[in-house]
Amino acid sequence: MTQVLRSRAELRAALASVPRPVGLVPTMGWLHDGHRSLIRRARADNPTVVTTIFVNPRQFSQAQDFTKYPRNEVRDVAICADEGVDIVWAPPADEVYVPGFDTLVSVGAIALPLEGAARPGHFDGVATVVAILFGLVGAEHAYFGQKDAQQVMVIRRMARDLALPTEVITCPIVREPDGLALSSRNVHLSLAERAAAPVLRQALLAACRKWGAGERSGDALRATMRAALTAVPLAQPEYVSVADGLTLRELDRIDGPALLSVAVRFGSTRLIDNELLEA
Ligand code: PAJ
Repeated sequence: MTQVLRSRAELRAALASVPRPVGLVPTMGWLHDGHRSLIRRARADNPTVVTTIFVNPRQFSQAQDFTKYPRNEVRDVAICADEGVDIVWAPPADEVYVPGFDTLVSVGAIALPLEGAARPGHFDGVATVVAILFGLVGAEHAYFGQKDAQQVMVIRRMARDLALPTEVITCPIVREPDGLALSSRNVHLSLAERAAAPVLRQALLAACRKWGAGERSGDALRATMRAALTAVPLAQPEYVSVADGLTLRELDRIDGPALLSVAVRFGSTRLIDNELLEA
């Protein structure tokens, strides 16, 4: 039986007697097969699974993006029940941010480039809400998708630096058959934009192939990705990156683990994708 809870008090009471370990899957709802994969991994690892559904206003830099974010709690709860989630915590904002809330969790260098540069304040909002969720749920394990590669790195850094006892576990990217990474934002794509969107994956794979053939120049791989993206008229690249896999500093030469990542606009919809190059 899946319980749907709203308040901190209900959550605390429910968690007092559950079997451990607890696996936590934080989400903003509009659940798809990417979220399901995290829930399944949590289900396999833990006797108790908690999924949170909260569209976190503090991680949106534009109010419009927050308002436009898709929501369907009835459907989300049905998906959680289908996946055997024990507790869905779907709080109103004032149960997450208590009256007078005035704390910011701000992770340093790893949060600055890429998504951090494109969306100022975004990772402060993410780190702050995840720290609250870790505190409230007290889970042994928490599951995040490689889809948001920098987000997982920011959360790992935060959890280590603040000595939070929740272990952060990364799960692989789930994709559509044509390679487009699943995302709640895909719903905003027009038919033509949806048809063009697999170019993110194609650009990343083109760079991967070059790397596989021995290319080690960051500029060469960035140029490969940019060329693939600019060949598609509807795609407006925001960044293409070949960065150090640990620090996210842009690389001249690749001589260790590297993260290829891209952010591309299709009209008003912004998509991201990435590929890890392991040494
Ligand atoms: P949301 O975008 O709902 O994503 C919730 C989790 O699902 C994240 O860890 C994300 O990386 C993962 N995910 C999304 N698409 C995926 C895909 N195609 N394959 C695998 N995993 C995927 O990310 C957030 O919410 C928020 O920032 C949150 C961490 C909940 C804090 O508010």
